[in-house]
Amino acid sequence: MKLFALFGNPIKHSKSPIIHKLFAKQTRILHNYIKINVPINDFSKSIRNFFQNGGLGANITLPFKREAYKICDILTSRAKYSGTVNTIKITSSKKILGDNTDGIGLLKDLKNLNFITSKSNILLLGAGGAAQGIIYSLIQFGCNITIVNRTYQHAINIVQYFKNTKKINCLKIKDLSNYSFNQIHYDIIINATSSSIKGDIPNIPLSIIKPDIFCYDLFYNNRNTPFLKWCVSHGVKNINISDGIGMLIEQAAYAFYLWHGIMPDTKKTIIKYKKKDI
Ligand code: ATR
Repeated sequence: MKLFALFGNPIKHSKSPIIHKLFAKQTRILHNYIKINVPINDFSKSIRNFFQNGGLGANITLPFKREAYKICDILTSRAKYSGTVNTIKITSSKKILGDNTDGIGLLKDLKNLNFITSKSNILLLGAGGAAQGIIYSLIQFGCNITIVNRTYQHAINIVQYFKNTKKINCLKIKDLSNYSFNQIHYDIIINATSSSIKGDIPNIPLSIIKPDIFCYDLFYNNRNTPFLKWCVSHGVKNINISDGIGMLIEQAAYAFYLWHGIMPDTKKTIIKYKKKDI
């Protein structure tokens, strides 16, 4: 059977294998999708072994997305401009092709939820690999992005990386609530920090929370994330919040498409998840 895998550390709680199993069943494509927990310094060796042993494609998750970018022979434009790779495929000429389906997956989910338009002003929390991976698709769609991050220099680095687009800037956290620095009304806050993993909430001023703002957390779990709970407790409507499960399913669908040339029906999978069937 065709072999695919998820590489990451940690990956114990990842839902990707279940999602890919559902896609395989739905499209009647037989594939075996396994999880590989990679020691932190072993990514490149581990992925080459996998391909030498017959692996055809892989998803890459934290903390290896920037490293995955470096080992690819060919990059899609989404991967090239985001500087990170979450999906890899071996081509017929045995080259490693790298794609990034996180940004397009997030955008699709935000559209499904009616959280976004091409004119949306986005406040992006975080300046790590997760944030970097989604920016290109959001800017391509037309949105403006302001980054705030605990370490200001990391936000500056990301803005520098995307400097040609002119649709991205960054602010210090303390300046977010300062009118002279910040006259923009934000339509969506996206939490791309890893704070939820530790049960923390990124530090942002309450004045950002307006009645109709949408709040999205890339992190997912069966209950609300600490960030989303914080948003709701400060007046954000329950219908205006979402965790990242829809993005996870959408990015998996684009990866499935890259490998097999067939786009699964993600709506069915998202409904199944929300009914707690997966
Ligand atoms: P990832 O690939 O998940 O983005 P990363 O590259 O280590 O992982 O980046 C983690 C991001 O979450 C960073 O923006 C980090 O802020 P710093 O740049 O200051 O390190 C942010 N982060 C992690 N824990 C946080 C917390 N408790 N509060 C706020 N931001 C946090």
